[in-house]
Amino acid sequence: MKRVYFLLAFSAFGWNAYGQKTIDQKVAELLSKMTLEEKVGQMVQYSGFEYATGPQHSNSAAVLEEIKKGKVGSMLNVAGSEETRSFQKLAMQSRLKIPLLFGQDVIHGYRTTFPVNLGQAASWDLGMIEKSERIAATEAAAYGIHWTFAPMVDIARDPRWGRVMEGSGEDTYLGTKIGLARIKGFQGRGLGSLDAVMACAKHFAAYGAAVGGRDYNSVDMSLRQLNETYLPPFKAAAEAGVATFMNSFNDINGIPATANQYIQRDLLKGKWNYKGFVVSDWGSIGEMVPHGYAKDFNEAAERAIQGGSDMDMESRVYMAELPKLVKEGKVDAKLIDDAAGRILTKKFEMGLFDDPYRFSNEKRQKEQTDNQENRKFGREFGAKSIVLLKNQGNILPLSKTTKTVALIGPFGKETVANHGFWSIAFKDDNQRIVSQFDGIKNQLDKNSTLLYAKGCNVDDQDKTQFAEAVETAKKAVVVIMTLGEGHAMSGEAKSRSTIGFTGVQEDLLKEIAKTGKPIILMINAGRPLIFNWAADNIPTIMYTWWLGTEAGNSIADVLFGTVNPGGKLPMSFPRTEGQIPVYYNHYNTGRPAKNNTDRNYVSAYIDLDNDPKYPFGYGLSYTDFKYSDMVLSSASLTGNQALNISVTVSNTGKYDGEEVVQLYIRDLFGKVVRPVKELKGFQKVFIKKGESKKVEFKLTPEDLKFFDDNLNFDWEGGEFDIMIGTNSQNVQTKRISWSK
Ligand code: BGC
Repeated sequence: MKRVYFLLAFSAFGWNAYGQKTIDQKVAELLSKMTLEEKVGQMVQYSGFEYATGPQHSNSAAVLEEIKKGKVGSMLNVAGSEETRSFQKLAMQSRLKIPLLFGQDVIHGYRTTFPVNLGQAASWDLGMIEKSERIAATEAAAYGIHWTFAPMVDIARDPRWGRVMEGSGEDTYLGTKIGLARIKGFQGRGLGSLDAVMACAKHFAAYGAAVGGRDYNSVDMSLRQLNETYLPPFKAAAEAGVATFMNSFNDINGIPATANQYIQRDLLKGKWNYKGFVVSDWGSIGEMVPHGYAKDFNEAAERAIQGGSDMDMESRVYMAELPKLVKEGKVDAKLIDDAAGRILTKKFEMGLFDDPYRFSNEKRQKEQTDNQENRKFGREFGAKSIVLLKNQGNILPLSKTTKTVALIGPFGKETVANHGFWSIAFKDDNQRIVSQFDGIKNQLDKNSTLLYAKGCNVDDQDKTQFAEAVETAKKAVVVIMTLGEGHAMSGEAKSRSTIGFTGVQEDLLKEIAKTGKPIILMINAGRPLIFNWAADNIPTIMYTWWLGTEAGNSIADVLFGTVNPGGKLPMSFPRTEGQIPVYYNHYNTGRPAKNNTDRNYVSAYIDLDNDPKYPFGYGLSYTDFKYSDMVLSSASLTGNQALNISVTVSNTGKYDGEEVVQLYIRDLFGKVVRPVKELKGFQKVFIKKGESKKVEFKLTPEDLKFFDDNLNFDWEGGEFDIMIGTNSQNVQTKRISWSK
């Protein structure tokens, strides 16, 4: 007992149980030695000089000098054991020898790249998603990186927005689960492990709701909607101990996120009690001037720090303005201590004060990156991310002994494109990426032939290669067409107003279709595309996103049936751009359309159905799954009881396969209107052909909570529909009552 008191007394003074100083104590001690400029220096982040992920300033010599003076806390886009070591050496010349933090966008893999994030989300496989980040973290850490600017947990309902490719789609529940899996993967056994990097929940907040899907655009929404739909993945990330947050470029209801006291101070650092630090987005502090929220950089710096932004990424405003603002009494020095303290805490947690070079290790860099094991996983993950949209006549899986196969389309022999956007660690070597052609060729029987014709370019009007492509198709038994949008057409600053196949690709498809050959269409994209003609006329369609280093092998595994596809769409696919935003969890309205024929005085378009071309949660398999025997533990519940739900899923087809069983609810009446469906659970189950599985879910009142108009988060008694099914449209429903 005495010992316990002794230890408690020790820790109350900032010492840990073994008499060593705690990190808080070390930070306080260090801060007490620092000048104001040195503290602000910790809050400064510059980009390296080799490549930039935003508009760059180009005074590299000055940056190096500032590092030596202790005026820089972090660098982004400096990677590789040698390069990070050389920058760290400069920091070690500074008065207090405070190490630099190296950050980078490790978005979907590092040296081994994985499917773009929206594709990963289509796997609905949390274990694989976590593992992919574990690998990415191990590779990045071995390259000297301490910190990734991921996961992006922005909910997005507008596929015109190019950054949907970096997120997990339209649903808050799925997006939250995936965000948590990513954080767990990145941070592994905890900060300080040599294979863990600090994660960063971004972009705080509501960046995915940019008006018109135009990147960097404004966001205008109710606080209720913000709290209910857009903030939960961030709150969950904070609770899970994500090391950092990044704010966003947009304004929210007129206040730029970067200076938004409500989201950064009241919620994040207040109500959610978040102890990590917030980095601005690239230049977002300075951009408050063009926003019209600050008259100059001085005011921008003041508003950003008041608003809770701890680190200035590339605005170059904090160092120029904050010391002055403190001296003039306009900014409380405590805010600087708090921000610098949060940053220093992470440096201690990462073990950088013990050894600033611990992550910069040539040997690990060689051994732990892009090895066979990582690639093997990448191949499996790629295959699991593919969504089978159509398989009329069961053309797939394809026999490996098919005599002559033609691969046609601009992506067939591409290498780099398979990475998709955000694969900056991959600047040097295309050789290691498996093209779709090579992947298919390697698996086709040696007595079979794989023909190839490019047919057209990704994005121009040139049809001169059509004739050759048609001739190639004519020689084949089956044609695989690989079309879509360019790999750099989604991602940051890649909003599109029309989201079909680019250039003359659809014309090429129509020409090839005229040959009468069976066509398997593979669609390469970072977002939902609109391809109605293909959807209505081509018998077999697979959505292959951008699958990363092993793309060609993953694709071939699915084409030839080594892997039975089980991916499901994480976003609704619109019928036309005019239908956007279209998402499954909309409200019912006072005049809901009952069907697609009666459009008179109901909430409908006179020229378009309301439902999407492919719904959220949709995806086929080579086998068939039948749902039966949905059983609820009770039809009438009270108070804090739990509802148990089960359903039997049978594999009635010819192949073993995986099915994502989805649970939705509808709260029929509320203080505020409730969505027609809300995802509340899912399970990915493997079922052998001819077998059945009972899949079980549990709901508690916690799952029924929502934000009312006064931002109270609670549930109400009433009637609820409980729905289980294979996608958000195809469900069976049972009604229950649940009173408080
Ligand atoms: C992006 C961030 C990214 C940062 C650093 C910004 O332009 O919005 O998501 O992490 O650049 O590359």
